[in-house]
Amino acid sequence: MAQYDVIIIGGGPGGYNAGIRAGQLGLKAAVVEKRGTLGGTCLNVGCMPSKALLHASELYDAANNEFATLGIEVKPKLNLVQMMKQKAESVSALTKGVEFLFKKNKVDWVKGAGKIVGQGKVEVTAEDGSVITLETANIVIATGSEPSPLPGVEVDQKRIVDSTGALSLPEVPKSLIVIGAGIIGLELGSVWRRLGAEVTVVEFLDRITPGMDAETAKTFQRSLTKQGIAFKLGSKVTGAKAGKSNVSLTVEPVAGGAAETLTADYVLLAIGRRPYTDGLGLESVGIVPDKRGFIETDHFKTSAPGVWAIGDAILGPMLAHKAEEDSVACIEMIAGKWGHVDYNLVPSVVYTAPEVAWVGKTEEQLKEAGVAYKAGKFPFSANSRAKINHETEGFAKVLADAKTDEILGVHIIGPQAGEMIGEYCVAMAFKAASEDVARTCHPHPTRSEAGRQAAMGVEGWTMQA
Ligand code: FAD
Ligand code: NAI
Repeated sequence: MAQYDVIIIGGGPGGYNAGIRAGQLGLKAAVVEKRGTLGGTCLNVGCMPSKALLHASELYDAANNEFATLGIEVKPKLNLVQMMKQKAESVSALTKGVEFLFKKNKVDWVKGAGKIVGQGKVEVTAEDGSVITLETANIVIATGSEPSPLPGVEVDQKRIVDSTGALSLPEVPKSLIVIGAGIIGLELGSVWRRLGAEVTVVEFLDRITPGMDAETAKTFQRSLTKQGIAFKLGSKVTGAKAGKSNVSLTVEPVAGGAAETLTADYVLLAIGRRPYTDGLGLESVGIVPDKRGFIETDHFKTSAPGVWAIGDAILGPMLAHKAEEDSVACIEMIAGKWGHVDYNLVPSVVYTAPEVAWVGKTEEQLKEAGVAYKAGKFPFSANSRAKINHETEGFAKVLADAKTDEILGVHIIGPQAGEMIGEYCVAMAFKAASEDVARTCHPHPTRSEAGRQAAMGVEGWTMQA
C-alpha cells in the first residue's frame, strides 16, 4: 500500500495543477487519471483543441474575406485533414508537457479510474482490470464535468455530436444546427461557419450567452449574424431523429405555437455541462452531491473529513483558469497555508471573432443589486490601432462605483479582448479606481488604449474619439 499526503482524482486543469503545486510544496502527491493522457477536458477535448480550430479557421476566413483589403490576393484552399492534424499535434505536445511537469515536481500519475472506498483510501482500477488501493491523508476530487444531455436528442457522435464530436467532424457540414447559444455553441459554430457550413443556432432564451453583459451580448449577436450565423431564439428542441446523412429536429417556440421541423447535416448539442462524479464512491464517505450533481464545499472542504473538491465538480464558473485557482488554494490549505480565490475576479473570454471578454459585474447585476455606478465606453472604431488594422468592431466598457470610483466590471468586445482583460483583472485585484487606469500611460498605438479611454470615459474625459 502506498502512502501519500494527497491523492488527486482527475488530471485536468484542477487536478494537474493541484499535483504540481503539491509537489512544489514538498507533499507526496499522486494524480489518478483514467484517460490515456493528462490534461483533462481542457487540454484533450476542450479549451485547447477548440482554440486550435478557432485560430486556424479565423485565418482561413481572413484569407478569404480580409486579406484583399490589405493588398494580399490569395485563394485559400481548405485542407481539413491538415487542420485537424496540427490540432492533434498541439494537443499532444501540451498533454506531454503536463507529464514532464509531473516528473519535474515528483508527482506520480496513477493510471486508471479512481474510487473512494473509505476515509483516506482510493482504489484504482487500471485499463487491464487490475486493482490497487492507495492510502492518503487527503483526497482531492477533481473529476470535472461532462456535457449535459437533452431528452429526445441522443448524441451518437456521428450526426448528433457534443463538443467532442464537433472538434473532429470528418467533413465541413453543408448545414449545422447548434442547440444552445452558449460559449461552446458559438465558438464551435463559428469554426464550422468560417469553414463553409450554414449554421443555425437554436436557443431556449430570448438572448444569447446568458451571463454576458446584455449590451455586449446584443453587439455580439449582431456581429455573428453579419458573419452568416442564423439565430432562432426563444425556441426549444423537443426531439431529434438522426438519419444516415442528416438529422431532423423538432423545434417549438418556448412561448407556445406550432412546432417546425429543421433539417441539417449535423447537430451540435451544447446546452451546458454538468459535474462528473460517476463511479467515484462518494457514498463511501457520506458525500451527497446537490440537486445538479455539484459537490458542496466550504473552502474546498467537503462534508467528509480529509476529502476536498475543486474545479468543474464544484460550484462556480466552469472554466479552466478557475479550476487552476481552486487547485492552488486547496493544496496550499492542505499544506497548512492560506488559500484564497476571488470568484468575482475570474474573467471570461469567448474566443470568437470578435472576442468577448469580461470580469466583475455586468450592468444588469449592478442594477439588480442597487449599486450606483458610472459607465465609460469607448468604441474600437475610434482607436488608431484598430483603424489601421481594419478591425474596428466592438467597444470597451468600464463600470465603476459612482461614489468610490472602484472598478466593478469591465466588458470588452473586439479582436484580442481576451488579451486586454488581464490588465483589468490585475487592476481590480488591487481595488483600482477607474481613475487609476485612466491616468496610467498606455503604449501607442495599441488596442489597450481603448481600454484606458473607456476608463477615462467614466469621468467624461475620453480624448481619442
Ligand atoms: P476536467 O478538465 O474535466 O478534468 C477531469 C479529469 O478527471 C478528466 O480527465 C477525467 O478523465 C478524469 N476523471 C474523472 N473521473 C475520474 C475517476 N473516477 N478516476 C480517474 N480520473 C477521472 N475553459 C476555459 O477556461 N477556457 C476555454 O477556452 C475553454 N474552452 C472549452 C471548450 C470546450 C469545447 C469545453 C468542453 C470546455 C472548455 N472549457 C474552457 C472548460 C474547461 O475545459 C473546464 O472548465 C476545465 O477542464 C475543468 O477542469 P477540471 O480539472 O475541473 O476538470
Ligand atoms: P453554456 O451554459 O455556456 O450555454 C448553454 C446555452 O444553452 C445557454 O444559452 C442555455 O440557455 C441554452 N440552453 C439550455 N437548454 C437548452 C435547450 N433545451 N434548448 C436550447 N437551448 C438551451 O454551456 P455550453 O456552451 O455548453 O458550455 C459549457 C461550459 O463550458 C461553459 O459554460 C463554460 O463554462 C465552458 N466553456 C468555456 C469556454 C471559454 O471559456 N472560452 C469555451 C467553451 C466552454
